[in-house]
Amino acid sequence: MKEKLSAILEGALKELDSIQDTAAIENLKVRVLGKKGELTGLLRGMGSVAPEERPIVGQMINDVRKQLETAIEEKQLKLMETEKLKKLEAETIDITMPGREVKRGTVHPMYQVQKKLIDIFVGMGFTVADGPEIELDHFNFELMNIPKNHPARDAQDTFYFNDNILLRTHTSPVQAHVMLTQKPPIRIICPGRVYRADEVDATHSPVFHQIEGLVIDKGITMADLKGTLDTFARQLYGEGIDTRFRPSFFPFTEPSAEVDVRCSACKGKGCRICKGTGYIEILGAGMVNPKVLEMCGIDPTEYTGFAFGMGIERVTNLKYNIKDMRLLYENDVRFIEQFK
Ligand code: PHE
Repeated sequence: MKEKLSAILEGALKELDSIQDTAAIENLKVRVLGKKGELTGLLRGMGSVAPEERPIVGQMINDVRKQLETAIEEKQLKLMETEKLKKLEAETIDITMPGREVKRGTVHPMYQVQKKLIDIFVGMGFTVADGPEIELDHFNFELMNIPKNHPARDAQDTFYFNDNILLRTHTSPVQAHVMLTQKPPIRIICPGRVYRADEVDATHSPVFHQIEGLVIDKGITMADLKGTLDTFARQLYGEGIDTRFRPSFFPFTEPSAEVDVRCSACKGKGCRICKGTGYIEILGAGMVNPKVLEMCGIDPTEYTGFAFGMGIERVTNLKYNIKDMRLLYENDVRFIEQFK
């Protein structure tokens, strides 16, 4: 009996020693200490032990059971500890690893320029007006003194929905919307998209952007227009940059001018950028035609005004020396990213 007992004890302890996971311990426990286990089997065999030895044998079996129970418990705790450590190790975050880069977007270069232009005019007391991109012929042409047979209405230039409705070809119709709803003094700018049926190339796009300006008050003269645009040019390109007016024609202004800005690269000496002329054309302008004032409900004997319109793409391309307009529309991040 004694030998059997120590064989069980030693066998179990040895097995316990080599066990590496808690599940195997559970197995061992059932096999040795369980109801049908080896030790319980021995207890059942007490019948064959002499009565006077039974207490001693019983005591021995219980001792072995206790010994095994503590050994198993210790081993279990140890295993649980190592399993916990293993798990923690597997789940650790390596804080020395470099973080994932978050790609930051940037405002499109043309809208950066648009914002700058708006800021300059707002600084001079202009407010920002808005108008529809889908426009009536009446506003886009008629009220701008462009009569029915005028070549500017050519279907080759204008996207028509029908005889009356079209995509605005310039921001000038916003002048009419403002004059018809506000009383002078008026001092507004209007940035926005305009549309012309042009093929896409380095300098043309069927959609592009303009900023319109309109000032109406008593006693407004061409000198006010010149002063406003000179101030604008200085603020955009720096001290010493002024404008030059060349006679031109627009049906909605009289007199009209093409306005050149002194080349900021050569300060007017003539260089590659201004093609030797010292100036770069950036906008159209003029005194609001009295006919337009009248059609829009403003008395031309009491009020005068000036208007101007410029292409935002053009100003952007000049500022950044961008040679192909298409770059502004393709949204290639490798291009856009350069304007952070
Ligand atoms: N609307 C003109 C154009 O698109 C520009 C312009 C605006 C000219 C206002 C004079 C006055 O070319």
